[in-house]
Amino acid sequence: MICLVLSGKTLSENLGYIKQYRSYIQIVELRADFLDDSEFTLINRFPEMTDLPVILTIRKREDGGHWRGREKARIEAFQLAASSRLRRFSFMDLEEALPSFEWEKDWIREGGRIIRSFHDFNGVPMDLAARLENLPRVSGEIPKAAVTPLNTADLLNLLRTTEAYSREDKIVLGMGDIGIPTRILSRRLGSFLTFCSPSGISAAPGHINPESMEKIYHFSKIDNKTRLFGIIGNPVMHTLSPGLHNRGYELLKTNCLYIPFQIDDPDEFLKWAVDFGFEGFSVTVPHKERVIPLLRMMDESVKAVLSCNTLIRSGSGWSGHNTDIAGFLSPLQALWGVDGFKGRSAIVLGAGGAARAVVHALASRGVAVTIYNRTSKKAEDLAALFNCRWGRLDDGRGMEYADLIVQTTILGMFPVDNEEPVSDYIFSSGQIAYDLIYTPEETLFLSRARLSGCRIINGMEMLVQQGKAQFLLFTGRDYPEDTVSS
Ligand code: ATR
Repeated sequence: MICLVLSGKTLSENLGYIKQYRSYIQIVELRADFLDDSEFTLINRFPEMTDLPVILTIRKREDGGHWRGREKARIEAFQLAASSRLRRFSFMDLEEALPSFEWEKDWIREGGRIIRSFHDFNGVPMDLAARLENLPRVSGEIPKAAVTPLNTADLLNLLRTTEAYSREDKIVLGMGDIGIPTRILSRRLGSFLTFCSPSGISAAPGHINPESMEKIYHFSKIDNKTRLFGIIGNPVMHTLSPGLHNRGYELLKTNCLYIPFQIDDPDEFLKWAVDFGFEGFSVTVPHKERVIPLLRMMDESVKAVLSCNTLIRSGSGWSGHNTDIAGFLSPLQALWGVDGFKGRSAIVLGAGGAARAVVHALASRGVAVTIYNRTSKKAEDLAALFNCRWGRLDDGRGMEYADLIVQTTILGMFPVDNEEPVSDYIFSSGQIAYDLIYTPEETLFLSRARLSGCRIINGMEMLVQQGKAQFLLFTGRDYPEDTVSS
């Protein structure tokens, strides 16, 4: 179930959120600790205002809430809610520290349920399994743990414990960006519900809004047959790849899911992922080189550019591929044709990891490449590997004769978005200017090139095309056309 967390200041504001997300949610949590004082006195009327089951939560500040009143008043509010004569709350969230109250028995007999919760905003307890086991005070209580994975080891502890915990009902989730997969995978992990917040007002770190949970991750369709894929990186939550891949699965009506994982230890993570049944991953910064020693097999492009952006499950390990190269070439191929590379000339600005893939891609298609870099030694080393020419960035001789200029440095991207590597260069109108950066859509480099009449290509096309090539490797099917990535 998707549970919408209602953290409005008034009941009517909360009803507005229910209306907005009604088609995506099955249950709501009234966070009464967020309500204005005058509204708090009206909470027992709230269950009658919606047809959905409602959880009553009055969270104290030390547990991550906003309740500023006395503890006695908080307990009385729960008791009053339990004895209300109106349509009642279906669940109440009582923290671990609270005792089992006398009124709880009657409340449960009449169909109410208690969620018994604990929160850890600083990490994941090593003894999470025992903590969960000991949470319920009386039978029928649903144990809930909201903890904060700070690294891959924490995340794996959380995932393994959640999966192994065999009580019928439980709610276990990881807060923050690292914990997001536990929210998306909650059906597979056997959690009773997952919490979501309205867009832009997250009640807890890591909440996704219900519409994204359903539209991007197809939450209600996830089951034990869902084939699992994902992306590993750090940071990774801003990535557009889940939108692209999950949309493709939806259009092909194939039961697959693609999840972002913010990971600092790919080795340990990939072992868990084999056990859990993941079949493939996209790999992004900073792991493209780090995963190479972990591979059982790798294709020629990974060997050539020492960078792996795609993992495919191979037995109990992983094979490595690089679709960045095909992604980079794709927009050029659309312009020049498959056979139109040979005999052309290109300038590559920069000599880092991205430049290495670009130089390999172009040189292997017969393009004459010259590398210009700020640090000439790096340009020289890269040029030696692929048998091409090189120079210093501030030299830039012969640039006007190139068919193509590729920008691979970080200049043009925040926080150096008002810079470019070749600010003195005057473009010739027949040239193609290609920038690997995709935010902003048009860097200073590209906008100057466009004003000079050049054809421009930004990094978004490469990103989408490398993703589509991964989609084919993951599913064995071409990415469905006529779609927009979201
Ligand atoms: P990536 O994997 O994205 O290519 P990288 O390997 O760190 O990242 O390479 C960064 C590239 O941007 C390098 O070519 C770097 O030039 P140096 O080799 O001289 O470091 C280039 N770069 C970074 N900051 C730059 C700047 N301020 N001016 C010019 N080039 C810069």
